[in-house]
Amino acid sequence: MHDVIAKQAVAHSFSQAAKDYDKFAHFQHELAQQLIDLCPDTHTSAVLDLGCGTGYCLPLLKQQYAQADITGADLAPGMLNWAKQQHPDFLFVQGDAENLPFEEHQFDLIFSNLAVQWCADFSKVLSEAYHALKPGGHLVLSTLADGTLNEIERAWQSVDTHQHVNEFEAEAFLSECVKQSDFNVEYLDVSTHIDYHPDVRSLTDSLKRIGAHNITGGRAKGLTSPRAIKQFMQAMESFRSDLGLPGSYRVLSCRLVKPI
Ligand SMILES: C[S@@+](CC[C@H](N)C(=O)[O-])C[C@H]1O[C@@H](n2cnc3c(N)ncnc32)[C@H](O)[C@@H]1O
Repeated sequence: MHDVIAKQAVAHSFSQAAKDYDKFAHFQHELAQQLIDLCPDTHTSAVLDLGCGTGYCLPLLKQQYAQADITGADLAPGMLNWAKQQHPDFLFVQGDAENLPFEEHQFDLIFSNLAVQWCADFSKVLSEAYHALKPGGHLVLSTLADGTLNEIERAWQSVDTHQHVNEFEAEAFLSECVKQSDFNVEYLDVSTHIDYHPDVRSLTDSLKRIGAHNITGGRAKGLTSPRAIKQFMQAMESFRSDLGLPGSYRVLSCRLVKPI
């Protein structure tokens, strides 16, 4: 899909989801807390939450960095409007992680939880963050890799040939981008996190209600037939365990520092 159209689709989808996002984003919130725990214990006066969504992470960052000015940036205007209403004490800027609207050396910390998997060029995200950070500043980021939602992908593969799950970059490629960047790597990990749901509807609804729609070119264009949906739901049952139906996320987390 053309990059501009893809970005508009992502922004539209998340804007539409803004009001309900926090009610359904249990997994994203859990990951946010883990990423906060990775943040450095250093003097920090300016923080950017990149892809801030509803602004959920802003008070968590404020707890950690009480003295800092904290800015939220997001691609989706609807997310930003909602975030401003929920968190009027913070600054907000509309911005694209692949083309950040900030001066050089502006932030001590750029924090980004589960946002940049929507970008086409991960190396560009890293170089934009590098530019906006002060020397000695940190980028603490999580993103998704290939293997994410593989249960949904495999269940649909038994039903039709459409692409039902967004494409994510291979973890080896993402890790290589990190290592090839100008940052020094303080922490880099890729691990699987599983979000269990009681039934298929709950799993697929949670994705839709946070705005994580399938925007791939190979997605089905028309309505999916009730028969295909039934087959998909039956195929999903083969993944059920005592904990419920799994939605797996392959998460790359890192803490990088810009050399002084
Ligand atoms: C899954 S939400 C995560 C929101 C928040 N970080 C959290 O932890 O709850 C992804 C967010 O990334 C934003 N986003 C997607 N692509 C972006 C881009 N290129 N630049 C900035 N934000 C982007 C979306 O609009 C959405 O608000």
